[in-house]
Amino acid sequence: MEDRVQIFDTTLRDGEQSPGCSMNIEEKLRLARQLQLLRVDVMEAGFPISSVGDFEAVKLIAEKIRGCTVAALARAVKADIDRAWEAIRDAEKPRIHIFIATSDLHLKYKLKKTREQVLKDAVWAVQYGKSLCPEIEFSCEDASRTDIGFLCQIVEAAIKAGATIINLPDTVGYSIPDEYGAMFRTIRERVPNIDCAVLSSHCHNDLGLAVANSIAAIQNGVRQVECTLNGIGERAGNASLEEIVMAIKTRREKLGIDTNIDSEEIYKSSKLLSSLTGMMVQRNKAIVGSNAFAHEAGIHQDGMLKSPITYEIMTPQSVGIKHSTLVLGKHSGRHALKQRYVELGYQLSDEELEAAYHLFCGIADQKKEIFDEDLEAILEAGVSSTEEVYHLAGLQITSGTNIRPTATVELRQGEQTMIDSATGDGPVDAAYKTIERITGEVGKLTEYSIKSVHSGHDAIGEVFVRVDFGGVMFNGRAASTDIINGSVQAYLEALNRAMAARKRKNGAPAKKVMPTDTVTA
Ligand code: KIV
Ligand code: ZN
Repeated sequence: MEDRVQIFDTTLRDGEQSPGCSMNIEEKLRLARQLQLLRVDVMEAGFPISSVGDFEAVKLIAEKIRGCTVAALARAVKADIDRAWEAIRDAEKPRIHIFIATSDLHLKYKLKKTREQVLKDAVWAVQYGKSLCPEIEFSCEDASRTDIGFLCQIVEAAIKAGATIINLPDTVGYSIPDEYGAMFRTIRERVPNIDCAVLSSHCHNDLGLAVANSIAAIQNGVRQVECTLNGIGERAGNASLEEIVMAIKTRREKLGIDTNIDSEEIYKSSKLLSSLTGMMVQRNKAIVGSNAFAHEAGIHQDGMLKSPITYEIMTPQSVGIKHSTLVLGKHSGRHALKQRYVELGYQLSDEELEAAYHLFCGIADQKKEIFDEDLEAILEAGVSSTEEVYHLAGLQITSGTNIRPTATVELRQGEQTMIDSATGDGPVDAAYKTIERITGEVGKLTEYSIKSVHSGHDAIGEVFVRVDFGGVMFNGRAASTDIINGSVQAYLEALNRAMAARKRKNGAPAKKVMPTDTVTA
């Protein structure tokens, strides 16, 4: 049977305690349920002594989650251990995770204790924890900067006291892979009772090495890896769960190890975390970033169309993403352009493609990314300006505490003026719903962002929207000091583009063939 590494998720503890990542109790439970679907082996639900909110969340998760171990963090002191046990005692598989710092640096400046005192505290805490809870994990905080002789001594003592999982964190992200792997090798060689425990890694990403260090640990006998979704966590974060899991899966033959994770739940988990915390991942983030399965370079796109394995080492489906995307931009070639036109329903002859490509290159030189409506415009011989079908003639918003947000929108279409009102989840939602009621055009908002153009109270908000009208995406942009007004203007721009594209299509030949002679460079 293949060897397994246990995935210990600490998104709800080490992740949640970092700036910008806090969640309320319902949000924590939602994430815990998703972690259960992801099939993590252990979820660390929180640090119960740290606040009443944390205690309540750990308790709720312990009661509701089944099928995986629920761990609670505690320092090596009675009050922490009691509180942790109170929070997780109803879990199907409870675990108390006790930690104490072991490096001389932490002993001198933080704990102000001797090695002997720390050893004594650790042994007492593990024994006491074990008298309450069947499973105890013991962590040596700052293990990677701890004297290796003392580390061996305290690990041996903790195992003797009843710990069955020994975690040796690179708390400050200081280690490099070779070194971190060697620490575990030495522990395995020098601690006589090490076979009575599972070794665990816990890496921080201060030097961007958290995942590499975790893999080095696995290669040196670690069988539990602590990590977080999207790599969130203290400072530069923890080792990212999705990167470790997919490295193990993709390089299974090299590593000879597996996990129990359902990798197809990865993308959904990452998205849920981002939406709960508002902390988005960068576009080029491995596995879950929006560019992770997007290709722009012409040579890459051509290769991808011939066989995806040329430029993708794992399938997007294996992490729960529907398909790869070929982003059209100045590096794209004819092959990708032709393919996108086919997807949009246009069959271009070789000459038509050549003419369209020529025009496409001209636009691509000026714009970073070419969208579907640009391609539609190319078919209209480069007509890129959009006729304004609907014009915003008036907007009134009522919003505030304990008031249902309501929008009244007045639109002008030619000579006709139309006015209507609707309520929504927020003022922007109310305004979009009103536009939908007036125009009868149903748009699905797939992207919405606001950024301020400069700082200060009078900053201009630049709104960007991406809206799906009948399966085709249209973008809209607007800038305004009033972000609701900007949001409505941006939406109307996308809607007007959709209207223009529909008009072009309706007027186009039945076979949707581009008239070559109307296309000029
Ligand atoms: O980074 C660390 O050392 C920790 C311990 C509490 C396990 O998070
Ligand atoms: Zn940590």
